[in-house]
Amino acid sequence: MNKILLLLSILIFCTTTAVIAVPPNKTLTFDQSSMGTVTFSGKVHSDAGFGCKECHNKEMFPKMKQGTVAITMEKIYAGKLCGECHDGTRAFAAKKSCSRCHVR
Ligand code: HEC
Ligand code: HEC
Ligand code: HEC
Repeated sequence: MNKILLLLSILIFCTTTAVIAVPPNKTLTFDQSSMGTVTFSGKVHSDAGFGCKECHNKEMFPKMKQGTVAITMEKIYAGKLCGECHDGTRAFAAKKSCSRCHVR
């Protein structure tokens, strides 16, 4: 009986922390580029209907921690990282719209 209660509270604890940790309501700022700061909105991307694994997988952003993957335009243009979607098919093309991401 106690074991079940314990398991249940662990389960509830894990699900609530996962929800708190999420960026759906979070905004990440990437400010290393000379082109200007890129603001990644968790809300825009979750409203677009993507689950965590869409981005948090081995090929893209394995860790849920900012700064663990170096994002370059070379990779984006090659269809990797943000470029998995920002290729003009699933989302606006990176090559054509610098200023939709980079704001000075
Ligand atoms: C459209 C892509 C995308 C989706 C979908 C996404 N994330 Fe992320 N997330 C990112 C990127 C990009 C980073 C930064 C990774 C890096 O810099 O290495 C990040 C970082 C994070 C961070 C760390 C934030 C910080 O301040 O360091 C957490 C926590 C996180 N994501 C949780 C989630 C959860 C939970 C979900 C699902 C509800 C989710 N993410 C869905 C792209 C996404
Ligand atoms: C899983 C697909 C996916 C990935 C990966 C992804 N995006 Fe997006 N992004 C979208 C979609 C879909 C939209 C909204 C539709 C559109 O504007 O084309 C969007 C919208 C945006 C917008 C809003 C633009 C505006 O005009 O309001 C920005 C900025 C953006 N993404 C930046 C990024 C950055 C930076 C990354 C990488 C860290 C990234 N996205 C990764 C799919 C993705
Ligand atoms: C989908 C969003 C997005 C679009 C569109 C985009 N970028 Fe980026 N860019 C990024 C992100 C994210 C970084 C990483 C910034 C950081 O680490 O602080 C970056 C980094 C850069 C860098 C520095 C790293 C490198 O690869 O040299 C340059 C220069 C750059 N972008 C130029 C451009 C130009 C020029 C365009 C338009 C032709 C463009 N970007 C369009 C998201 C985008």
